This record gives sequence, C-alpha cells and structure tokens, in this order.
Amino acid sequence: MRLSVLAAGLLAPITALAAPAVNDAGVPYDYLNKRENLCSLSKPPVLCTPNKSVTPEETAVRAYKFYRAFVVDGDPRTMFSLIDSEYIQHNPGYRSGPQAIWSLFCSGRKIGTEASTGHCFVPSTNMSYARYATIDRWRWVDGCVHEHWDQGEKFPSADQCYKLPAGAV
Ligand SMILES: *[C@@H]1O[C@H](CO)[C@@H](O)[C@H](O)[C@H]1NC(C)=O
Ligand SMILES: *[C@@H]1O[C@H](CO)[C@@H](O)[C@H](O)[C@H]1NC(C)=O
Repeated sequence: MRLSVLAAGLLAPITALAAPAVNDAGVPYDYLNKRENLCSLSKPPVLCTPNKSVTPEETAVRAYKFYRAFVVDGDPRTMFSLIDSEYIQHNPGYRSGPQAIWSLFCSGRKIGTEASTGHCFVPSTNMSYARYATIDRWRWVDGCVHEHWDQGEKFPSADQCYKLPAGAV
C-alpha cells in the first residue's frame, strides 16, 4: 500500500511532463473521447434551448464542442444538446428535426481524429463546418445548431475560421 502511494506520487509529475498533443486552443486532442451509445433511447435526451444572450465567442466554443462530440468523440448526448428542435435539414434524404437523424448518431460512432478531420466556425455568418469524408455546414442561431447543409459545401480558408483563445474550452 505504502509503496503504491509512493509510486503514484512519483508518477504524477512525470505524467504531467509528457504534454499531450493539443490544438490551437490548447485543448488536448483526447480531452473528451467519451464515446457513448444511447440507442436504447428513442429520442435525444436533451436538445438545445435557444438563448438570444449567447455571444459569438460562446457560440464559437459551442461549435467546437459540437464538432468534437459529433466527429471525434462519438458523444451523441453532447451533440444533440447543441441542436435545436427545428434543425432545418437541406439534405433531401432526411426530414427536418433532430429526431430524423437520431438513429444515425445515437450509437456514438467516432468518425475520425481531430488531426485527420477539420473544424471551422465563421463568426460573420454564424456557420460552422466539419470536414471528413464529406463537408457539413451548420447555421447557428441563438447558441444552437439550427440548419444543416452537406451537398457541394466548401471548407473555408483558415483565415476565416475563429481562433479559440487558450483555455476557452
Ligand atoms: C443565456 O445565455 C447567457 C449567456 O451565456 C447566460 O448568462 C444565461 O444564463 C442563459 N440563460 C439561460 C436561461 O440559460
Ligand atoms: C450571428 O449571431 C449573432 C449572435 O451570436 C448575431 O448578433 C448576428 O446578427 C448573427 N449574424 C448573422 C450574419 O446572422
């Protein structure tokens, strides 16, 4: 017992020295990674409540969290907590509304790593983008994902993308 306590005390600083790979905002690429399968639920547990007071900076953080939950972490609870009840869908294969895409995402399938995919939030348009095998575009209204396109989309150039300040997430 005493030995393991001692070992833990010695290991902690060593682990802290081995800095993980981080993105521009200083967030470790593996900071969430909490895949969750919620397919036992017939609908998303929580949706986003539109809030006119959410600032563009807060929306940028939410857009990053949405990308993480959807693409990297496989976290449908967080993903749908950022989608409003209307979710206007422009892909002709799906109806509008979060319920229409719940079965696609409830299993928390991870799509790719942060290094192998792309995320961008453009504050002047309130659009966020994810790049993986395809390119998705979402419009954010009152702090929630409100509208979605995924056909013929172009990923913005890096200078258009909001740079999250260190410690923002
Ligand atoms: C709406 O957003 C603002 C800004 O983030 C926050 O202070 C406030 O608590 C939110 N209101 C509700 C009801 O969540
Ligand atoms: C983007 O959202 C902000 C609120 O976060 C709003 O003030 C602004 O008018 C929106 N811009 C566009 C182009 O819709």
